[in-house]
Amino acid sequence: MARSLRSLLCGLVALAAGANAAPSCPARSTSSVSSALPSTTTKTSTSTSSAQPTSTAPAARTFQAEDGILSGTNVDTAQSGYTGTGYVTGFDEGTDKVTFTVDSDTTRLYDLSIRVAAIYGEKRTSVVLNGGATSEVLFLAGTTFTDVAGGQLLLNEGSNTIDIVSNWGWYLIDSITLTPSAPRPPHQINPAPVNPDADAGAKALYNYLRSIYGKKILSGQQELSWANWIAQQTGKTPALVSVDLMDYSPSRVERGTVGTAVEEAIEHHNRGGIVSVLWHWNAPVGLYDTPERRWWSGFYTDATDFDVAAALSDTTNANYTLLIRDIDAIAVELKRLEAAGVPVLWRPLHEAEGAWFWWGAKGPEPAKQLWDIMYDRLVNHHNINNLLWVWNSLAEDWYPGDATVDILSADVYAQGNGPMSTQYQTLIDLGDDKKMIAATEVGAAPLPDALQAYEAHWLWFAVWGDSFINDESWNSLPTLNTIYNSDYVLTLDEIQGWRGSIPA
Ligand SMILES: *[C@@H]1O[C@H](CO)[C@@H](O)[C@H](O)[C@H]1NC(C)=O
Repeated sequence: MARSLRSLLCGLVALAAGANAAPSCPARSTSSVSSALPSTTTKTSTSTSSAQPTSTAPAARTFQAEDGILSGTNVDTAQSGYTGTGYVTGFDEGTDKVTFTVDSDTTRLYDLSIRVAAIYGEKRTSVVLNGGATSEVLFLAGTTFTDVAGGQLLLNEGSNTIDIVSNWGWYLIDSITLTPSAPRPPHQINPAPVNPDADAGAKALYNYLRSIYGKKILSGQQELSWANWIAQQTGKTPALVSVDLMDYSPSRVERGTVGTAVEEAIEHHNRGGIVSVLWHWNAPVGLYDTPERRWWSGFYTDATDFDVAAALSDTTNANYTLLIRDIDAIAVELKRLEAAGVPVLWRPLHEAEGAWFWWGAKGPEPAKQLWDIMYDRLVNHHNINNLLWVWNSLAEDWYPGDATVDILSADVYAQGNGPMSTQYQTLIDLGDDKKMIAATEVGAAPLPDALQAYEAHWLWFAVWGDSFINDESWNSLPTLNTIYNSDYVLTLDEIQGWRGSIPA
């Protein structure tokens, strides 16, 4: 998790990310005034897209941002390449937005495309449908207007609103285009784990997961204690519990931490549950340990000067040796899980592409190299065969490759209990629909009706702990009850016996 970084405004993100990773954020314009254009409802323009309808479905429709309802934003024309009469900018406050009003002839899924220029660097926006479900869309840095896939939207029959809301802000919105979605074709999931020596438990888990993929979603929760809290609140226990090997990192153990994650994982396994493991890997050395950047936040890029690229550049380097030392220390814990018969959904080097953790701080190449080293060390050197390998970045240039990845995943912190269909579709494309896809960390648990309507076939969701689960602002108790008592959502009582899943 890097939760505190996600929802902050540009300046704060720059601060938190440290000078190296600071996005370029222009000073807030003091002359930011609302558009002189009347705030009329968006006109339903005719299509300017090249998409040709092949059936009776309506064609693609494009809506100009400058014709939308502007709140805290303004129309500009300084950046060339826009369509229509201008574009909307001035997304500098968290609530700044442009609202599109669009009709649909029936309740129907649409592919959303956003024409945007992220001229100040990589940004994120929030797309809010009808004032409720929210999805997050990544805009890669670019100097020109480009069309960015924005996932799918389930429009109601009649009038709908689509808000593009700041989130990170600092981008230029030219228009949006809505195209009726084609039905999702059948998945083509690989029949076996990538490790040919995967043990019987790992194979059984893989087969079980394949058997439910696209049909159900596993409920999941970060930390056993929070899973048990959910049981008290909803009467249902999450099927999956995720634990963190953070406190087994040697640079933490040196400072007195005592991990309990392995025991918690075994406890959940012993009651018939499924276990996922991540690792907030405290940098092996180079922790600042100042009052602002304490040693226990040493997995953050801004809490250490450990340079992963330099460490990996030479296998005789002392810091390369420390990386191997740390992997070997974690191997001991994974072996304890293997000895206890626990198959593990193993998710190291998570959120690498975010760059807020040191393993992602030097770009995709060192992160992928470290992944390969870890895979080789754990599988081929330590012969650990109870792992299914879960990759956790969305971008193609970060992907370590099909040969070492069983499951693709995303960590999504977006309000509104939506289906996160944007990230789901991105991962379908990344894995060519041959890898199952999980929502390994979420702020808001997804509502089952929307998951099904969007055909967003996440294999599991896992809500982060603390205020994400017990604070009504992310997940209200009625919502949790709806989710945990839905037929579509598998809970601990409903997955008993999964270990009997025999290879297909
Ligand atoms: C190892 O990393 C530490 C922390 O960044 C650094 O101070 C040290 O110079 C590095 N050692 C080598 C041999 O590069």
